[in-house]
Amino acid sequence: MKKYLNRLYQLLKSAAKDPRVFLRVVNTVPSICSACGFSRAYKDSGRETGETVSPAANPLWEYFQNHKVGRGIWKWEHYFDIYHRHLARFVGRKVDVLEIGIYSGGSLGMWRSYFGEQSHLYGVDIEGACRAYASDHVTVFIGDQANRAFWADFREKVEGIDVIIDDGGHDPEQQRITLEEMLPRLRSGGVYLCEDVHGRFHKFAAYATGLVNELNSMNPAPSPFQSAIHSIHFYPFFMVIEKHDVPISRLSPCKHGTEWQPFYHWLPNDPGRKTVPEATPPP
Ligand SMILES: C[S@@+](CC[C@H](N)C(=O)[O-])C[C@H]1O[C@@H](n2cnc3c(N)ncnc32)[C@H](O)[C@@H]1O
Repeated sequence: MKKYLNRLYQLLKSAAKDPRVFLRVVNTVPSICSACGFSRAYKDSGRETGETVSPAANPLWEYFQNHKVGRGIWKWEHYFDIYHRHLARFVGRKVDVLEIGIYSGGSLGMWRSYFGEQSHLYGVDIEGACRAYASDHVTVFIGDQANRAFWADFREKVEGIDVIIDDGGHDPEQQRITLEEMLPRLRSGGVYLCEDVHGRFHKFAAYATGLVNELNSMNPAPSPFQSAIHSIHFYPFFMVIEKHDVPISRLSPCKHGTEWQPFYHWLPNDPGRKTVPEATPPP
């Protein structure tokens, strides 16, 4: 009962904070329900089930396969394809990588092997035992990723980060707070990865979908979020955000050509309009 009252309180609090946004979210609920129905009943005409992990060359996967003894690495196997897809461009470069969730230290070794000698790794864990994994190329911070003061201290001590991998406590609140504290600090061109977003109606997945709304917003000029954020990607249990290499200053539609049909104008200042005097008014 207490749980339901708390949920109701959270709903009312959101509604009171920004009633307009709240109503717009409520308006999308039928679409979300349709998508749930469609995806749960989904039947595909594509190929039959094959390998989970891409057979394409992937040094991370090879490292993991060959890592039979020593410091433990704990990853879902389909993650290796996602890592390599988004992180390959940092290989061999001077790169600062933060992994939240050190556990037995093996993944820090994997990242160092992948990114190379110029990389520096920052590991965060709530367990003091993880201090043991510090070295000349690994800086360990002990703290709670859900604590905003911890991140303020981290930002004081670390000048910049190119890659953030959240493999910590996997609680939606922890994931949200970590993103809010660290995404604005990620360097341009950086990549933010959040692992283990498990289950339908996950609160962090819902939060990330809320970010997609801002990415799609129509403004005279890109909002600060649109200017900085290149894309948001969803995979099973995994979300990735990529930043633009250089923050963008416009999102503009383009039409090339001189001949246009009169029946379709999407925007009032559509260049096609000029070639069609008194065209059929748009709906
Ligand atoms: C899944 S393990 C990390 C696995 C490791 N990255 C690997 O690939 O082998 C999760 C780690 O997150 C740490 N952790 C749990 N809650 C945390 C929190 N609130 N803040 C920071 N670390 C946390 C745990 O102590 C544990 O070491």
